[in-house]
Amino acid sequence: MSNLARADGNARDREGETPAEPPAVSGSAGASPSRPKLRVLSRDESRSVPKVVVITGASAGIGAAVAREASRLGYLLAITARRGDRLETLAEELRRNGTRVEVIPADLNDYGSPEWIVSETLRRFGRLDVIINNAGLGLPTLFSESKPDEIRKQLEVNLVAPLLLIRHAIPSLIESRGMIINIGSAISCLPNPALGAYGATKAGLAYFNDALRREIGHRGVRVCLVEPGPVKTEFFDAFTKLGPEPGTYHPMLDSPSPWMSADVGIVAQRIVKLIERPKRRLSVRRRFVWPWRIVGFTFQIMPWLGDFVVGSVLKKYERLPVATTSDRNRT
Ligand SMILES: NC(=O)c1ccc[n+]([C@@H]2O[C@H](COP(=O)([O-])OP(=O)(O)OC[C@H]3O[C@@H](n4cnc5c(N)ncnc54)[C@H](OP(=O)(O)O)[C@@H]3O)[C@@H](O)[C@H]2O)c1
Repeated sequence: MSNLARADGNARDREGETPAEPPAVSGSAGASPSRPKLRVLSRDESRSVPKVVVITGASAGIGAAVAREASRLGYLLAITARRGDRLETLAEELRRNGTRVEVIPADLNDYGSPEWIVSETLRRFGRLDVIINNAGLGLPTLFSESKPDEIRKQLEVNLVAPLLLIRHAIPSLIESRGMIINIGSAISCLPNPALGAYGATKAGLAYFNDALRREIGHRGVRVCLVEPGPVKTEFFDAFTKLGPEPGTYHPMLDSPSPWMSADVGIVAQRIVKLIERPKRRLSVRRRFVWPWRIVGFTFQIMPWLGDFVVGSVLKKYERLPVATTSDRNRT
């Protein structure tokens, strides 16, 4: 069954409120009581074979850079995103370096995609060692001006899909003594009204990351959270293209200045390094993220101060006229 057909079927199940069937994918049927006993690799076995790494959101930005870095270090790759043409171009580039790359186009807004990605990876490689949950989008709007379908899209892609992907992959990850790397965001340190829904997905992912590590860490699966500050990618295109009025922007919703932003290649190197040297939490760049974390912590213990400071900034900007993209380019 095609991915889209599978996704449609599942969507219909949801609409009709019939529970979707439990995953029946070989090696991923964690929910079934009759699942055969897992054959967990020894530490040495797990180290001796090349690792299969699944990267979501590999068609652009951090995901594409992570794929390039992982290819350089000799990992086998399953790359996924919606834009299959971009994935194919990247795969061709990496194959020229001798990397085995499988392209698995999928839309993470579709309920069936996570299961599809896991089953295709297992079908093509026969194993799965690392999942990098990187795909994500942030739509900058004040919550009271946001569109309900855009709220849902962010929740589906940034939070629901990573959880489902992990759920389907857990048996394989336990067998391979594998690893999960979730790409969160430094925004969860300091709630920001301009990215409230986005921040909620990233804060949710951070909570889940720690809960999951406590659940399956002792079974040999490493679980890491990456919290990037601003990184130069297409992510910020949404700030001008997908804001409340296309072509315009609100100063509160502006993209960060270049000096604040990390280089995507360096961020990718730090992420891929986690595969051999796992950490519970990686902040990149530390010198940017840590001050925000301290401010966020201060506002947590003195919420009235946070409400006053953030609320005052927002009120100040609300008094300013909305500028057009060309105004912005002139500054
Ligand atoms: N850039 C930053 O400053 C920054 C800071 C903190 C955290 N992050 C996080 O880092 C991750 C990567 O961001 P980035 O900066 O690399 O962004 P990006 O350049 O915009 O790339 C986003 C990736 O996610 C994929 N994606 C979006 N919607 C999707 C969907 N419905 N189904 C499948 N894939 C989808 C996109 O592929 P397709 O469009 O081809 O589907 C693309 O490959 C995100 O989780 C983001 O929240 C970024």
